[in-house]
Amino acid sequence: MTLSPTSTSASYAAFFTRDHAAARAPSLPSRWNLIGAMLGIATQLWFMPFWGRLTIFGLFVLALWGYAIGSFVHAHFVLPRRGLEVRLSPRMTNVLVTGGAGFLGAHVAAALVKRGESVVVLDDLSGGLAEQVPEGATFVRGSILDDALVESLFAAHRFEVVYHLAAYAAEGLSPFIRRYNYENNVVGSMTVLNAAIRHHTRRFVFTSSIAVYGTGELPLRETHTPHPGDPYGIAKYAVELDLAAATHQFGIEHVIFRPHNVYGELQSMRDRYRNVVGIFLNQIMRGEPLTIFGNGEQTRAFTYVSDIAPSIAESGFIQLGAERIFNVGGDVHCSVNELAQTLLRVTGGASIIRHVEARNEVTHAYSDHSRIQRVFEMSTNKTSLEEGLRQTWLWAKAQGVQQAPVFSNIEILRGLPPSWTR
Ligand SMILES: NC(=O)c1ccc[n+]([C@@H]2O[C@H](COP(=O)([O-])OP(=O)(O)OC[C@H]3O[C@@H](n4cnc5c(N)ncnc54)[C@H](O)[C@@H]3O)[C@@H](O)[C@H]2O)c1
Repeated sequence: MTLSPTSTSASYAAFFTRDHAAARAPSLPSRWNLIGAMLGIATQLWFMPFWGRLTIFGLFVLALWGYAIGSFVHAHFVLPRRGLEVRLSPRMTNVLVTGGAGFLGAHVAAALVKRGESVVVLDDLSGGLAEQVPEGATFVRGSILDDALVESLFAAHRFEVVYHLAAYAAEGLSPFIRRYNYENNVVGSMTVLNAAIRHHTRRFVFTSSIAVYGTGELPLRETHTPHPGDPYGIAKYAVELDLAAATHQFGIEHVIFRPHNVYGELQSMRDRYRNVVGIFLNQIMRGEPLTIFGNGEQTRAFTYVSDIAPSIAESGFIQLGAERIFNVGGDVHCSVNELAQTLLRVTGGASIIRHVEARNEVTHAYSDHSRIQRVFEMSTNKTSLEEGLRQTWLWAKAQGVQQAPVFSNIEILRGLPPSWTR
């Protein structure tokens, strides 16, 4: 098909509009498009004495060409200087999202579908739900521990970018399920990474956790040396270290996110060992007391999922420098008591708060996000806790009360908080 100048310009403009939006660069028309269009018109006017007449059509064509050249300048010279990338080919990228039926994974998969990528979700539904996989993504039910399955998926799809989110992320339970934790979170991760290396995946995006810091100096910064204090954090840090080694030896690029206390729509309320917001919501719907370990003065910074999922999705495509590890999440921290009070206010719930025996956990944990804000040029703090909880409550009410069964294979009962055995 031959394209007239006008249609070429129009298709360029449409394509760049899509990709600029995806890269979260300022939306079109950018100043470069407008400058280009004005130069086009000025050229027409300048040469008018030589061409003899001015036509509306001529003005329009030159303005459109100017607009397209503006897009080109913006894409090739302006955005790269800011660490952002616009792909020149409108082709879909094959991406894999492990854990894409889970909470964060489903949001990341949805953002990728929205970008126009070809998304495969691999999830064994141990924590997620098939109906959470976004429309437009291909869902494969299976485990990241299934080497043959993982290999066949990579052979069939040649994933250019892998988002590895599958994990069992119950940090507090991890000392009592050490073997399960390391199998799922380390061996499973290595199964996916092996295949990614074999099949020349360009970039491996991994959701680690601020659990890697342990009881570090606050606020937790990427420059601190991690000292994880429990098997979950150790597993995450082990994968981080292995990713760095794989990059060094095989050239596979990696991006590591260290999120913390993410909450929002799709968060599992079926897990009694993790997700304090989900646990509280379920308790409110049941009319039960909100249970808090210890005196409730432990502090956390809660993160609304929609504030961070788009950055995680974008990280497979933007140009990055030497910095590959990013704390990501909300800046404002509060105590678990304050969280409970806010939730009761937002939901109008009448539950009382019941303090149960303290458990082994980090007392205060919040991190610095200046790096991600600088590199991604965005805030991960857009939604206030109150507003985020209000949105989550609307969603939770539509789901109704959930069953939260006891974990079936606890490996160590010694020291297990009594409230976890009932
Ligand atoms: N939610 C948070 O606050 C938070 C904080 C820090 C890090 N993270 C990390 O983000 C990622 C996603 O967490 P989430 O909160 O969405 O948890 P989630 O439980 O909602 O999602 C994890 C998904 O992984 C799947 N999964 C688990 N083991 C699997 C296996 N062996 N094979 C295939 N699929 C498997 C589960 O079915 C689930 O759908 C995890 O890696 C977690 O460690 C989450």
